[in-house]
Amino acid sequence: MKRPIAPLEAIKHFTYEGKLLDFTPYGSGLINSTYLAVTDCDGHVKKYILQAINTSVFKDPQLLMNNILAVTSYLLLDAKDPRNVLTPVVTKEGHYFVRDKSGVCWRMYVYVEDSISINAPESKEDFYESGLAFGRFQHDLAEFPVNKLKESIPDFHNTPKRFEALMKAVEEDVCGRVKEVKDELDFIMARKDFCSCLLDANKAGELPLRVSHNDTKINNVLFDRDTRKAVCVIDLDTVMPGFSVTDFGDAIRFGAATAPEDEPDLSKVNFDMELFATYTDGFLTGCGGSLPDSEIMLLPEGAKMMTFECGIRFLTDYLSGDTYFKTTRKGHNLDRCRTQMKLVAEMEKHWDEMKAVVKKYCKNK
Ligand SMILES: Nc1ncnc2c1ncn2[C@@H]1O[C@H](COP(=O)(O)OP(=O)(O)O)[C@@H](O)[C@H]1O
Ligand SMILES: [Mg+2]
Repeated sequence: MKRPIAPLEAIKHFTYEGKLLDFTPYGSGLINSTYLAVTDCDGHVKKYILQAINTSVFKDPQLLMNNILAVTSYLLLDAKDPRNVLTPVVTKEGHYFVRDKSGVCWRMYVYVEDSISINAPESKEDFYESGLAFGRFQHDLAEFPVNKLKESIPDFHNTPKRFEALMKAVEEDVCGRVKEVKDELDFIMARKDFCSCLLDANKAGELPLRVSHNDTKINNVLFDRDTRKAVCVIDLDTVMPGFSVTDFGDAIRFGAATAPEDEPDLSKVNFDMELFATYTDGFLTGCGGSLPDSEIMLLPEGAKMMTFECGIRFLTDYLSGDTYFKTTRKGHNLDRCRTQMKLVAEMEKHWDEMKAVVKKYCKNK
């Protein structure tokens, strides 16, 4: 494979150990371009991850790296094993990213040895382990001074603002599609008041601002190659002040659904209570009593909010002409909106059960 020039130029700035042996594109991440660098360190092989930061999504790489560094250096203080913490590598100039001649920003991490990443759980244990990893993340950062972090994407989970953006798209109706989505709009309008439920709980002192990961997909957890236990939470680009329950909720939105988020056949889309219980068990075991019960009892709201908000965003994009989410077919964003709203409706049906599951695991911890 022909080696790209820019990353090879960038890598020279970093204080990695050893002599560079090999350098190849790596992983299946969608946001950043990732490379694996292998070095020879007096006969020992060492590995590093070099990544181009996606500056079209993250406009301020300095802010983003400051957030990551604040969190990782805090986690390293108490880590039992360095493999449990994503570790950035400093440049020779003393920075944590470097901008190459074409303007691309690069950063380097120590490779987490003997780890694998998976794109979807292959068993209930995998899903449990990912919940455990993100629960531990909350546990380990429970005392972190969250005012040290900045919002890398402002209003990321401000659902009332997402609702307003939808109303604006309805008003503008640039593609003339509003007439097709009456049912979806009625469904959303009927739940307008729900949009502010987490922000209201925050104002009432029941839901504190914490370190939120904001991308709790299973492929952002590295698993041990041999034991298949969760080792390390990665992809910290969206770490910012937020709520524990939205981290939980996004994982549920994605992981407790029986079909992909763009499944056109809604009869295949269901909310799986068993998977909800599995993840809740993992997450709360990981939290290990670090969250108060009042906050834990809002986990179902977190799951419903993330699903509802995502559906609102898909519909907004559909009405605006599919400018944000990548689409590969006509009505792709509308299909996505419909799966999310079906999941919301099913969560509402299972609401008492969801609360009971959370209460059960809350008591066990
Ligand atoms: N420190 C690391 N050690 C081992 N593998 C890593 C590390 N960081 C990233 N990876 C691998 O690279 C992939 C993409 O990294 P990630 O930071 O998640 O980027 P993206 O934002 O594109 O998802 C991960 O899914 C994982 O396979
Ligand atoms: Mg990732």
